[in-house]
Amino acid sequence: MRAVAISRLIDLDPRGRTPLARQIERALGQAILAGQLPLGTRLPSTRALAVDLGVSRNTVVEAFDQLTAERYLETRPGAGTFVSLAVAAESRRLRAPAPATRVQADARRAATGSARTRRIRDLPLSISDDTLRPFNPGLPALDRKLLDGWFRVTAECHRHVKSADLNYGDAAGFLGLRAAIAAHVVLTRGVTCTADQVIVTGGTQQAVDLASRVLLDENDAVWIEDPGYLGSRAAVAAAGARLVPVAVDDQGLSVVDGRRRAKDARMACVAPSHQYPLGVTMSLSRRLELLEWAAKTGAWILEDDYDSEFQYGGGGVPALQGLDAAGSVIYMGTFSKILFPALRLGYLIAPVGLVDVFRAGMTLMGHGLPTLPQVTMARFMDEGHFIRHLRRMRDLYAERNGLFREEVAARFAGALELIGTATGLHVTGRLATGLDDQRISAKAASEGIAVPALSRYAMEASDLSGLVMGYAHLTPARIRAGMVALSAAFDAARQGAGVRRFSS
Ligand SMILES: Cc1ncc(COP(=O)(O)O)c(C=O)c1O
Repeated sequence: MRAVAISRLIDLDPRGRTPLARQIERALGQAILAGQLPLGTRLPSTRALAVDLGVSRNTVVEAFDQLTAERYLETRPGAGTFVSLAVAAESRRLRAPAPATRVQADARRAATGSARTRRIRDLPLSISDDTLRPFNPGLPALDRKLLDGWFRVTAECHRHVKSADLNYGDAAGFLGLRAAIAAHVVLTRGVTCTADQVIVTGGTQQAVDLASRVLLDENDAVWIEDPGYLGSRAAVAAAGARLVPVAVDDQGLSVVDGRRRAKDARMACVAPSHQYPLGVTMSLSRRLELLEWAAKTGAWILEDDYDSEFQYGGGGVPALQGLDAAGSVIYMGTFSKILFPALRLGYLIAPVGLVDVFRAGMTLMGHGLPTLPQVTMARFMDEGHFIRHLRRMRDLYAERNGLFREEVAARFAGALELIGTATGLHVTGRLATGLDDQRISAKAASEGIAVPALSRYAMEASDLSGLVMGYAHLTPARIRAGMVALSAAFDAARQGAGVRRFSS
């Protein structure tokens, strides 16, 4: 076949991300499978095809070499390159459908998939986005300079890696890290545990997913804080459990409401130290009430302690797990806030009787986490870098927290009442009556500001109007600039609302 005729089968995108050789290889491979290049066809010379396609000869040679290695083409010395006999059977069996037909078939399959496919496909997974915009909630400071120590220890660990650490590891995690985590949570969070009870996970998200897969059956009732964290809600729903929204008041999750809605629930998901997104700390009497319910019914409590290392008013409330005498609490912590979210490293502290089944669950999910970051984290903790980093970041965030609150007081007095300000990396502001949080959130987004609307975290809870705001990742200058833009969004939302009321 002539080069011109073949080049018509190849639609190159010179600005695309896929290298040109790969594009040529893919187009020819598809043409062969689709029967457009019949068996035995002689291909033009690489030089002629290169001229016709306007690419270098090497590019065509690379594509031909790959297709030859995959047995789509064969070279007969002195005669040229031909569509290989070896693909004859494949090409008859695998007539590649036109791309449009394939898209339709894919959509049909997805729509008629299993209940689990549909459940997972339709889940709302997150409200905030992944940008570092002001005031995207829950982000730590991500400046490279602040993390120098981490990268130094990483380089050291990679240089001196042991052969044993390159093998499959314990799916429950690298023992040195499990011991360091146990020591940390016992000392700083009042958790009661040994290293054996620690399971290293890919952040809290994987810990909730693991617990849900391992502990729940389809249609089991699970108490979920309302409003609450979408990540946990989604993992529980994906497991096929029935979400039971439970009210949160100024003492935390209402056990009375939970009992009324589903007294025999199999699990309760709570963030007692710093409820997300409201920022409430669960009172002692509520903690005892919740533990008593769980002990009596055999329910599990999944405690999310995601940001309580950052307590600015001193002290802080220890973890619920430390009060648990019945082995009901599964405690979860994360390194996403103390170091950075892309680490994907967190942990779960399991009651002794669940350790083996959680280890089995982690084996199923890929034999546990990569060992090298775990070895690095163990060393980072053992050598004292971790605690120094934590103290340094706590001081930095306390300053940013103070500035953020001053700015809100100066600009939004009477319009935004901050709650839960003494812990963590975000605060929630309740909006004065009459202000629509989703409207303000949308206006703010158009000003480059990410302030998710509180009402979007609700399942049934009504009368929630507020903004969820993070400040820890922002320098003072960015906090101030963000406040100016947020004020403009408030003004625009108020004016817009006024115009709408006037015209309706
Ligand atoms: C309530 C809550 N729990 C847990 C996490 C941490 O999740 P991960 O450890 O998977 O990064 C976050 C992060 O934003 C959170 O807001």
